[in-house]
Amino acid sequence: MSKTAAAITAVHGYLPDFVLSNAVLETMVDTNDAWITERTGIKERRILKGEDQGLSVMAVEAVKGLCAKRGLDPLEIDLLICATVTPDHQFPATANIICDKVGAKNAWGFDLMAACSGFLYALTTGAQFIESGRHKKVVVVGGDKMSSIIDYTDRATCIIFGDGCGAVLLEPNDEGLGIIDSILRADGSGCQYLHQKAGGSKRPASIKTVEAKEHFVYQEGKAVFKFAVTNMADVSAEIMERNGLKGDDVAWLVPHQANKRIIDATAHRMGLPDEKVMVNIGKYGNTTAGTLPLCLWEWEPRLKKGDNIILSAFGGGFTWGAIYLKWAYGG
Ligand code: UT7
Repeated sequence: MSKTAAAITAVHGYLPDFVLSNAVLETMVDTNDAWITERTGIKERRILKGEDQGLSVMAVEAVKGLCAKRGLDPLEIDLLICATVTPDHQFPATANIICDKVGAKNAWGFDLMAACSGFLYALTTGAQFIESGRHKKVVVVGGDKMSSIIDYTDRATCIIFGDGCGAVLLEPNDEGLGIIDSILRADGSGCQYLHQKAGGSKRPASIKTVEAKEHFVYQEGKAVFKFAVTNMADVSAEIMERNGLKGDDVAWLVPHQANKRIIDATAHRMGLPDEKVMVNIGKYGNTTAGTLPLCLWEWEPRLKKGDNIILSAFGGGFTWGAIYLKWAYGG
């Protein structure tokens, strides 16, 4: 009998209605549709509009949809992990707010910050609680309201990011399906290339930090690109190799949606044709911790029980990694 694994048994997502197209960005900063499309693959992204609308607004919709789909009473949820770099507040954790709003009164929860790799980190963490037998129902949320930390006068960053959130339910599986392996990596020296300068304990918010625009995303794109393209491809190839997988064995690559060129390089390294690669960056841009669950949500109807799936990401920290899982249900 195979050991108990953690399997994804439902997935749901939420994307705000407001569409910010390349054409509109052309009116805001010195850029153009051709440059954005060629350098990133992005055509439009979604933005959560309105006062007092935090990440939890999107996450609550994603989790409610998840429960409805699976026929799950929120009271059954044992644990909810929320991966994000744009929580509603510095504290308390957005996970607690989500649990309150969906009625998950028996759950405990916490936020996890690993930027674009957040969903991989959270999924691996959530899986441990299922594998150990400690919990039966774990919800993993990945999402970001990137528009809350983007400077819409900075053409180097404002063209890339969007808002969105996804959630999955993890349950025990004894059929050999679910999360088989994961490789997670981090290198804190990468902080210099991608970070938010102020707002933390090192540099608390002040009039000076606001005037210097230090609460927005700072990214040295070229340097990040170089690390991302190498590490995301390397870690994806590594997880295939150590599980004896060839390109033909993999049904789907679910790559972080940061740049179409990084996705293509990763797929190429894994020996995968375009048809096996989930790509929706054109519609949603980079939603940071949201990209992977949003891809799973969009492709869910096409996924088959037993499909070998590789999730892969690279992001701020630096953080990166890959997960190998066997899909546990038919679409
Ligand atoms: O998800 C988290 C991890 N993040 C990533 O993985 C992002 C990795 N980096 C990237 O995706 C790319 O580096 C970017 C899309 C951010 C930038 O593309 P790039 O090909 O690396 O462009 P670049 O920064 O080297 O800039 C090339 C040129 C520069 O002009 P000069 O100096 O050659 O005259 C930029 O000023 O393009 C210019 N440029 C733009 N032009 C039009 C930069 N941004 C824009 C823009 N529109 N939005």
